[in-house]
Order: sequence, then C-alpha cells, then structure tokens
Amino acid sequence: MSDEAGTGLGGGLILGIESSCDETAAAVVRGGTAALSNVVASQMNLHANYGGVVPELASREHLRNIVPVVREAMSRAGVGLEDLDAVAVTEGPGLAGALLVGITYAKALTLGLDKPLIGVNHLEGHIHAVLMEARQAADTPMEMPLLALVVSGGHTHLYVAEQTRDIAEHSRQGAWRYRNVGRTVDDAAGEAYDKVAKLLGLGYPGGPWIDALARRGNPHAVPFRFAQIKHRVHRDGPIPTNKKAPPKQEQNEGSPSFDFSFSGIKTAVLRYIETNSMREGVEERRAMLAAHPEWKPGSQEAAALCDTQTLDLIASFQHAVVGNLLRQTFAAAEAYGARGMVVSGGVAANSELRRRFQAEADKRGLPVAFPSLALSTDNAAMIAAAAWPKFVAGQFAPDTLGATPQLRLGAS
Ligand code: KG4
Ligand code: ZN
Repeated sequence: MSDEAGTGLGGGLILGIESSCDETAAAVVRGGTAALSNVVASQMNLHANYGGVVPELASREHLRNIVPVVREAMSRAGVGLEDLDAVAVTEGPGLAGALLVGITYAKALTLGLDKPLIGVNHLEGHIHAVLMEARQAADTPMEMPLLALVVSGGHTHLYVAEQTRDIAEHSRQGAWRYRNVGRTVDDAAGEAYDKVAKLLGLGYPGGPWIDALARRGNPHAVPFRFAQIKHRVHRDGPIPTNKKAPPKQEQNEGSPSFDFSFSGIKTAVLRYIETNSMREGVEERRAMLAAHPEWKPGSQEAAALCDTQTLDLIASFQHAVVGNLLRQTFAAAEAYGARGMVVSGGVAANSELRRRFQAEADKRGLPVAFPSLALSTDNAAMIAAAAWPKFVAGQFAPDTLGATPQLRLGAS
C-alpha cells in the first residue's frame, strides 16, 4: 500500500463502525482527516413511534443494517477491504446489545483480514468529529488545552482535552488525554429537549422541533431559572496544564468541576403547561402531527399548530438551556486556561447554541469549533478519526474486546 498520508504508516485508511445507539454507521477516513465515505442508517423513524429509543429494536435493526452499511461505505470510498490499515469500532458508552453488533462485526472483519482492531470511546469520537473538520479548515492546529463540550441525547460532559507530543517522529499525532471536569447529574441536555418536545406534543427527536419553533417565540417570556449547582472539587490527579496559561482556579484542595442539571427545567415546563391550561392544545397538536408525518420541524404547517404562548414557552426553554450550557462551559474554559473550545454531539446542531457560543467566544478571543451538521449527530467518520492517533501509537484492542455500556472518558 502506498504511503499517501506521508506517515510511514501505510495509506492510513481506517474503517470506522458505530452502533452505540440508534444509528448504524460506517465510514472510511484517511489519516484521521479525510472522510472518503460516511454512511449512516438512522433508525429514527422506527423509534419515533415510541418517543424514544427501544434497545431491543435497536439491536435487531443494527443486525439488519450492519453488512449493507459497511459495504456501502467501502464502495463509496472506492477502496477494498484489503486496502484498509485498521478497523475501528465504538466500544462504549451505549446500549450493550447495540454496541455488540458493531464490535462483533469489526472483530470478524479484522480476524478475517488480519488487520488491527481499535476500540474507540463514543464521546471521544464526538470530540474528534470537530477536530477532524477543524484540521481540514485551518492551517494552524488549535492550541492546547482545549475545553470540549459534548452535548447529546445521552450525554452532557465537559472535558479538558490535550494532545501529548510523545511520539517524536509523528509530533502532530500524539495520543490524547482527557479530564472530565463537568457532567450532568441527571438528564442530558438532548434528553431535556426530547422530553419537553414530548410534553408539548411535538415530534421525536425533539431538538430539531424546538430549534425551529423557538425562532418564532419570545425567549424572555418565561423566566426559567437554573439552580446554581455547587462546583464539585477534585482532590486527585493533575490537571492538564498549559505553561503559558496556567489554570486560574488551581487550588490547594483540588480543582472545581462544572456540573449540569436539566431535570428541573423539564418539570418547570410541565408545571407551566398545567397551570396555564395548555393540555388540550398539546393533545390536539399531538394528534395533528400523528396524522401528518410529512409536516417537518421547520414547516409552516407545524408552526401553525402552536399559539403564541406555546412558541414563547419553547423559545424561553431553549434560551435557558443554551444560557446554562454557555455559562458553565465558558466558566470551565476560564478555570482551566483553555486556549480553544470544541462543541459536539447532537445538540451542537442547535442554531441558537452555535450563534451564542460563537458570539461569546469572539468576545473573549477564544477559537471555537463546531462540527458540520452531518457530523454533529452520531456517525462513524468520528470513530475512524478518533482511532487515528491510537493507530499511530499502536494502541490496538485485544481479541477479547467487549461492549462497555458505561465506558467513561478520561479521569475526573
Ligand atoms: O449525538 P446524538 O445523535 O445521539 C446521542 O449520542 O445521543 O444526539 C441526539 C440528540 C437528541 O436528543 C436530539 O433531540 C438532539 O441531539 N438534537 C438537537 C438538535 N438536533 C438534534 N437538540 C437541539 N437542537 C437541535 N437542532
Ligand atoms: Zn452520540
């Protein structure tokens, strides 16, 4: 195989496989940067009938999709299985049965092809979706450390991320280290979007519905408040330091943590619906949308189903959630001396979130990067991209690789 990536590591072609939740995905990525293909088979319509992901159905659907999705990814990339340098697969976190489908298939492939297998943390994948595109877009890599917000249907995490420079001959390819400096103590932000959308009789997943309808409402109509969560204090472990900008809040007793809580605002929305007698309107809307599956989130028809009070409630909910994510993320960035910011995961597709994070980052002179919309939600290009530094470092998975539903990323 030719050394097209110029690394001495073959063409650097990695097949990524992702099956942790409700998307079966496969992608071929060269050298951690160029996605030659990125195929996603979404089960969204299947689970929409239930208002959430049904694990047993998800596993069965992955089984049905995995072979055609991988074939399609290989064919679109225009390469053969023998051209691959490695196969990377999501090992967790996620649904056990769903993860197992991807892992078992990836293992069988690597065994048959005699190629290395690489296990990737799904959350690390979300971060690398952004890094991969940022590398394509800019000549200069983002400076370390980075503050990464991973915000999706299952996760809301803040990480301090840093690439080590420990592999001399590939100095831009060092392994990544993560420190989990904040997380939700209850619902994930995307989960709050999905639950509030359900409370309002809107479709699933709720994020795109609320995003589209919030533009039509007054974000200051309902004053939602987030309880101030006390910063947890770490007593252990070194903070990834940056000599030029040492963490401002490094203290004797440890370093602070920036947690989130989204179950309170969901309850507040429910209470608002009850006290303002909006229940009947909600049920009418639910019935209309069930009868018209062709009415999409941004459509005029969907908007016409919402009165001003509903639109104001939606806009206020979104304004409060985005404001909370913004405050915690920028506070953490400052506390840990971050020199760049990365926002990723399904909720990173949100238009208000992107606009307000960009404005705040510009104000502070902090570079911020988001994934393209296609790479915001679950995909396998991010898994292949995250696998690249592991491939360079020779960090391969054993034949015994299994699913780890609660897999964590980095120390906390
Ligand atoms: O990353 P993802 O595809 O899957 C998980 O790992 O969870 O994220 C899905 C989540 C859902 O909760 C969905 O409602 C949310 O991302 N989402 C959005 C938007 N698009 C998707 N939330 C807010 N605004 C959006 N535009
Ligand atoms: Zn995800």
